[in-house]
Parts: sequence; structure tokens; C-alpha cells
Amino acid sequence: MAFTVRRRSVHRLLMLLGLVLFFRIFISFTSPASSSEKAASREVKQRNVLDLVTRSGKTFDVQRHKFLQVRMGRDEREDLFSDIVRNGVADFWERFQRPYIMGTETSHIDAQHVYTAIDSLLSLNGWVAALCPTLTRPFGQNKYEDAYDDLVRENHLYFIGIVIHSADHFLVDQLAVIVQMAKRLGPTNLFVSMLDYDSTDSTETLTDLCEAVLTLLGIPFRIRRVPSMTEDPSAAYYPVEEAYMRNLALEPLHELHQKRSIKFFRVVWLKGFTCPNDILETIKVSVLNEAAMVCGMDWAKHNDFFIFSDRWRTRDIEGDQFRQSKSSSKPDAGPPRDRAGAARYAEHLPFQVFCCESGTHVVDPAQSYYQGIMYRSGEDYQNVTSGEPIRDRGADAPCLDSCQAWFCRDLWVSKAKEGMREEEAADGVVERRLRKRQIDMTERDVETVKREVGVDDDEKREARRQVADVDADANVGSDYDAMPESDFPEDDFPPIRLSIPNSVFRPARILVNPRCVTTYADVSHAQLALDLFGPERDNDVSDSGLSKYVLEDWEGAPESFVCQEQRQTGGRKAPKTQRRLEFSIHDALERGL
Ligand SMILES: *[C@@H]1O[C@H](CO)[C@@H](O)[C@H](O)[C@H]1NC(C)=O
Repeated sequence: MAFTVRRRSVHRLLMLLGLVLFFRIFISFTSPASSSEKAASREVKQRNVLDLVTRSGKTFDVQRHKFLQVRMGRDEREDLFSDIVRNGVADFWERFQRPYIMGTETSHIDAQHVYTAIDSLLSLNGWVAALCPTLTRPFGQNKYEDAYDDLVRENHLYFIGIVIHSADHFLVDQLAVIVQMAKRLGPTNLFVSMLDYDSTDSTETLTDLCEAVLTLLGIPFRIRRVPSMTEDPSAAYYPVEEAYMRNLALEPLHELHQKRSIKFFRVVWLKGFTCPNDILETIKVSVLNEAAMVCGMDWAKHNDFFIFSDRWRTRDIEGDQFRQSKSSSKPDAGPPRDRAGAARYAEHLPFQVFCCESGTHVVDPAQSYYQGIMYRSGEDYQNVTSGEPIRDRGADAPCLDSCQAWFCRDLWVSKAKEGMREEEAADGVVERRLRKRQIDMTERDVETVKREVGVDDDEKREARRQVADVDADANVGSDYDAMPESDFPEDDFPPIRLSIPNSVFRPARILVNPRCVTTYADVSHAQLALDLFGPERDNDVSDSGLSKYVLEDWEGAPESFVCQEQRQTGGRKAPKTQRRLEFSIHDALERGL
């Protein structure tokens, strides 16, 4: 295994090696082979220290059900430190552990060791997570220890998904966040699914560490490593890979549902780094709004400031791309462009969007995965490596964008379908309404609608152009996946086709919670928090009501959106193009998507 040596990371890795060594011993101790060893481990398991911090009514008993803690596709290749680690483990085991474990009279000492180890593990704070309680947040979120007690009392099951693609530098803090969540929500109320997609850095060692920690804490998990879909990473088509990785990470969710009828309450996708309280709050926003998806906001360092950094997948409720704003920019130049979103963003309140991902996000599986929605992507991309010719794609061909964008559109269509089914069942209102509308659309109406929509779009486009002219942030820096901001050519705009307006359908509830900050390497969290929320004021804490969580008015989907697509292979950084594409829920329903 090649260790990727990053700044300041060498001593961290050495420290981790020590930890891994230490935990491996405990693993070998908690899964012993001989019968006398079993006696010792039984005692540890019987007394399950974690019961101290968990609640009763366990669905997941990891001691009884071995399939709840599984490692798949472990990389068994020898690496530079294999010998050292192996010898160290064997030595420690033979001299310090085995003699005591073999003697039943001293087994309580071993149990004590495990208690102590678990205790110190539960205070695992990571390097960044330790700072979280000191960061400013609006409404005094961090000041109330009991702010999430109601959530905790409900004793729901949460599925935590992590996809790791050579991003070892987040993993220890992500593990710390999981441990902190386990402490609050109960270790057996979580299921952790980690998918390592062909990482070439020290992810392998760190997933060993995760395995050890999760095993000791009795948290169910599946840690799985899979090889890359293509031999040559530059011949890959990223949206396909993205969908593949996420669906694989979701496999345990579907298996537990199909085979054991276990349903999860929420799925939390951990990305980058997010503070545990911010995640709990986002779960709360999700619950109170019955939202299909609630995202945080991604901030990355760029030169000396922080910029919003998920413009590939995020679209405001008008279908427009977010601005690449600085964290310190005025609220009216903040990331969301639509008026309602911007106004709520300025007040740090959750706002509705057409689509988001933005780092850590919370998905309601009942409105998505359990409805049969999977991650997917476009298929008629061009494989430039194999020399495929450029395919002619119509102006209204499906958008070849990220799998998250497909997921969002699927959420909208699925919600509309659900709404129609329910209303049809009630009294056939929607169907009648739709049929009536179609009949009412005379030639004259067609012209009127065409004109109205056309004018509206021209205005929007003009507004957009003006924004681009004055928006100093717009073209600064680059976030990883998004293409540079640019206007699309006029004639690329598809002709307006007539359809049933999206506003007649039940809206999907997709929200961004701007208080849930997701960050990446090198971000000064204290500074970012100050930029975004200012110093915490005393009067902030007075608002403990629902107003800071609940959105009252829900918009329908936009009739068109900025489609930023990757039409060819070439990995994550393959060139992208942009057009504005119509989005008709009615058409999608007709086509049976
Ligand atoms: C593209 O073609 C190359 C060469 O034939 C192949 O190795 C690769 O897997 C293909 N990529 C995709 C995404 O199918």
C-alpha cells in the first residue's frame, strides 16, 4: 500500500498505526478461537458496557447476529508495515494478553481493559470535531445540551452512508462524528455502511481502525472495498461510478428491509466534515418538514477565503445554479439566487431547492429508496477512450449530469405520482383537472402561454446576465465538479413545449439547511462560522420555537433547470457543457419514469 504523505500527516499516521495495533489486539481478544478465551469475551459481551449509554429495545444485536458487522473485500495485499504490525500484535498478544486471558481468574481485568477502552473511545473527538461545540451557530444551537432529546427519545434507526474514494484525511473525523452520534442516538440505533471505491491512499488502514472501533462499540456496520469499474480511471464515466458506489453503499439498507423487514428512519450521507450537532439539527429539520431530503452547505477554502462549493449538483427552486459565493459575502449575494431562498438564507433558515447534495445530507428512505428509487445516470455518453464517435443528441435529450441530479428529479416525479395516486383514490380530482386543462388549451392559449413563458425566460436570462456582470464572486476559484459559470448559447434553448405546469403536482420537499456546514481540508472552522453567522448574540437563544425549522409554503418544481452535463468519459474532471433544459413532471409521468 502506498501511503500518501500529506502535510502534517506523517505523525498522524504513526499515531494511527499505534492505535490500529492497539485495537487489533482487542479485536483478536473479542473474537477468540479457544474456549477459555471465549469465557473472557463472554463476560465482556454479557456486561455490554454500551448498555450504559444505549436504550433498550434493540433491533440490532451485533453479538447475536454476526451479519451485522461485516467486512467485505478487505485488501489483503502486503504493505510496507505489514511485518511490523503483525510482529507487534503477536508479541503483545503472547506476552501481555494471552497469559491473562487463559487464566479465568484474571479475566475481569481484561473486561476492565475493554471497559476503559470503550470509555475512551466514546470520547473520541477527532481533530476537528473537538472544536464543534465552540463554533458559533445561530439560535444558540450549541448552547442547549438537551436540544435533541426529543429526537433521541424516539429511538429510531439511522443508516449512515459513507463513500470513500481516496479521501483518507476525512475518515478519522468522520469516525469521530459517528461515535458522537452513537453516543447520542445509541450505538445499536445506527448502521454504518462504508464503501471504499478503489482508494489508493491510507484508507485501507483507516477502515481497519473504523472496523475495530465500531466492533468494540457494538455498532452494526458493513465496510466494503470494491475495485474500480474501469481499469483506467481516466476511461471512467463519473456519474455511472457515482451511482454505482451509492447503490452499493445502500445494499445493506435494502437487504435488511427485504430479509428482516427492518426499516430505517433516515439515511445520513456523510461527506467531508460536518459537526455532530449540525447533523442532528438537519435530521430535525428533515423530520419536522417531512422532507424527502435535507442538505447542508459545502464550504471549501479558496485562496484566503471560503466559497460555496457544490455548484454541480445544487439548483435553487427556479432551477438555477447556486453562486460560488464567499462565506463573507452579503446575504443577498449568497449562494441561492431565487428570491425566497435568498431571503431565508439571509436569516439562516432552511430553504426549498430543486436539488442539492452539498456535503452531508439526510434522506428519508420512505420517500425514496423504499419507493424503489435508486441512484442512476444517463447512459448515452460518449466513450472517448474507445474512440466512439460523438453521438447526435437532441436538444431535449435527457441531461447527462450527476447521479444526484437524477435522484432529485426522480424524487419530484415520485412525489407527484404519490400525490396523484392519493387524490385519484380520493375522488379523481387531479385526473379530471388534468383532462380539463388539456381540453381547455386552445390555439390561442398556446400562443399566450408561449409568449408568457418566453418573456419570463428572457427576463430571467437578462437578470442572470446582469448578476453575472456585477457578481464579483461568480467567476472566482473553482470547485471540483462544477464547470466555470457561463451563459448558455441562445439557440441551445429548447423550444417551449406545452405541458401541464409542474405546479399542479404535489411538490417534493427538498431543503437546504444553511446552518449545517460541511467543510473540507484547510478550512478554519471558527472563521467560517463567524463569516456565516456572525458572533452569537444572546437574543439568538430566545427563539426555540418551530419557526427556525419549518417551511410553510412549498413551491412546485421549476419548468426548466440548468443542466450541466458530462457527455463523455474522462473521470471526474471530464469536460462539461451547459444548457437549459425543460423539466416537465407531466411528461415524465406519461413516459412512466
Ligand atoms: C471506454 O472504453 C475503454 C476502452 O475500450 C474501456 O476500457 C472503458 O471501460 C470504457 N469506459 C466505460 C465507462 O465504459
